[in-house]
Amino acid sequence: MTDRISPSILSADYGRLSEALERLAAAGADMVHIDVMDGHFVPNITLGAPVVRCLRGSTPLFFDVHLMISDPLRYVGDFAAAGADRITFHVEADSDVAATLDAIEAAGKEAGLAVKPGTPVDAVYPYLRRLSMVLVMTVEPGFGGQSFRADMLPKLRALREECARQGVPELDVQVDGGISAATIGQAAAAGANVFVSGSALFGSADMQAEIARFKALAAAARQ
Ligand code: DX5
Ligand code: ZN
Repeated sequence: MTDRISPSILSADYGRLSEALERLAAAGADMVHIDVMDGHFVPNITLGAPVVRCLRGSTPLFFDVHLMISDPLRYVGDFAAAGADRITFHVEADSDVAATLDAIEAAGKEAGLAVKPGTPVDAVYPYLRRLSMVLVMTVEPGFGGQSFRADMLPKLRALREECARQGVPELDVQVDGGISAATIGQAAAAGANVFVSGSALFGSADMQAEIARFKALAAAARQ
């Protein structure tokens, strides 16, 4: 299982995003997590495809785009054209899941499917073989800086078992929300291997050291 760290620029200074991307690259981030919120699916608004397109021009980092929007199918083409590498959308959104996966595949992008805390994880089971990643939210989506919900750990365990049952044991399982040095071990031990972190990483004095520490803690917790 390869662990990957996906810092969320939700915690960056939105007036200086290209500097944030440089900081992430220098710190050894495996990718950058871009939170897209529409003020409808979640009670907050962040940025859209035009901003992703501008960021694409300033970094080769893998763009891990998390759509918290009501109608992802409508915007898949925009985000793909803007330079997203993986497009993750919510199983709770209004768009047809299979049709949205079709659109992401047609655009030649990786697909991720996300579940909110209140949604049983088996909602994603019918789609596992079409996904590059499942995202299990460990906070209610909408805002950074919330506390990690340990009551989501059983979902991670169940998902990892189901991945093995379906013959995709190495599927990436991402956790997003409240990930820090204090919580990453629990998530790793339960089956996660891709860790989004906003406030903990952007608030650290030495992001490179903190990313290395996160990876060491994840590996140790899995022993
Ligand atoms: C929340 C976002 C997260 C957020 C995580 O809706 O999806 O990606 O940036 O921030 P922290 O790590 O501060 O919980
Ligand atoms: Zn996110």
